[in-house]
Amino acid sequence: MRTQVGIVGGGPAGLLLSHLLHLQGIESVVLELRSRKTLETEIRAGVLEQGTTDLLVKSGVGERMWREGAVHHGINLQFSGRRERIDLSGLTGRAITLYGQHEVVKDLIRTRLDAGGRILFEAGATGLHDLDSREPRIRFQKDGEEHELRCDFVVGADGFHGVSRPSIPPQARTEYERKYPFGWFGILVEAPPSTNELIYANHERGFSLVSTRSPEIQRMYFQCDPDDDAEAWSDDRIWEELHARLDTRDGWTVTEGKIIQKGIVAMRSFVVEPMRYGRLFLAGDSAHIVPPTGAKGMNLAVADIQVLCRALAGFYLYNRTDLLERYSEICLRRVWKASRFSWWMTSMLHRFGDDPFQHRLQIAELDYVTSSRAAATSLAENYTGLPMELDSELPAREREQTAPSAF
Ligand code: PHB
Repeated sequence: MRTQVGIVGGGPAGLLLSHLLHLQGIESVVLELRSRKTLETEIRAGVLEQGTTDLLVKSGVGERMWREGAVHHGINLQFSGRRERIDLSGLTGRAITLYGQHEVVKDLIRTRLDAGGRILFEAGATGLHDLDSREPRIRFQKDGEEHELRCDFVVGADGFHGVSRPSIPPQARTEYERKYPFGWFGILVEAPPSTNELIYANHERGFSLVSTRSPEIQRMYFQCDPDDDAEAWSDDRIWEELHARLDTRDGWTVTEGKIIQKGIVAMRSFVVEPMRYGRLFLAGDSAHIVPPTGAKGMNLAVADIQVLCRALAGFYLYNRTDLLERYSEICLRRVWKASRFSWWMTSMLHRFGDDPFQHRLQIAELDYVTSSRAAATSLAENYTGLPMELDSELPAREREQTAPSAF
């Protein structure tokens, strides 16, 4: 089998790239280890930056998100018995959209398949070969048989545990990592929303977050021991913990409902440099992980894909390789800024041991962020998404013609 761009991984990064390349007339094949059903039901994050929603709408996959997603113009920070609103739209002119990652994946799969796109589900890549040649190969297994996909470029969008990153020789990559000494206990609840906008709460018992998925389904998290067993938590104990961390003196209380899913996620920051080796380009979680506190994970993957799509379009449409050469450098600038923001939000909101000095500093920081327009604007511009750096660099004609939305 042969194609122009071989994509390992059918999450949001791989599928979006395949879709955007198709709009530019570039052929791709997506290999995905999991089944379509698993991809479409797996609960992940749900906050889309303004730039992410704009891209989905402009490239023709935003129609259901437009109808079913909820646009939020602010978030709340809660600490020391106070709840303060950050006016995202007032400060930046931009908003966020709450729409589950698996819903984005559903929309992308349907759009690709309707357009005749090739997504091979339950096809697990076993190895990447000849990455430093002009015709790299992906070996994969499907239906118990070995296959090979030859291509011009390989895109590794197969997540943190995928085969792509380890295919870069160890001497050609540097990995940066920070593990946080806690996890997030996440629940999905059948209940009406407790609040119109997200609440990020710093409490002496630990961090908690009230988010939403739809008018009927809510998403909540609280800081926990990363080695804890989710099944050891009864529903009563979960609600007791959430009430203790979130309820306010003025009588506001978190709305309970039937817990339909629970699980614990570990918290880490991770970046690999560079994000490219020969004709292999890493994108999304295969190259970087951020803790979920800044809501950046999927948005960073989408930003990588925008750069990569332009670089590949530059190659196929204009015969230029400079954007491919600079892919890693351009992406990493944004990745490190998002890593910094996610680390900062995490540090400000979680409980780290019993250090009263650090706790006082956190409260001072929250007080500052919620009372200074400059500090609030800094949070808001990072939260709603920094501008795409590449946009200001390309000549207007090329910017138009290689834009992911040009179709
Ligand atoms: C979510 O709704 O899953 C969510 C929201 C905000 C975050 C992380 C996760 O920072």
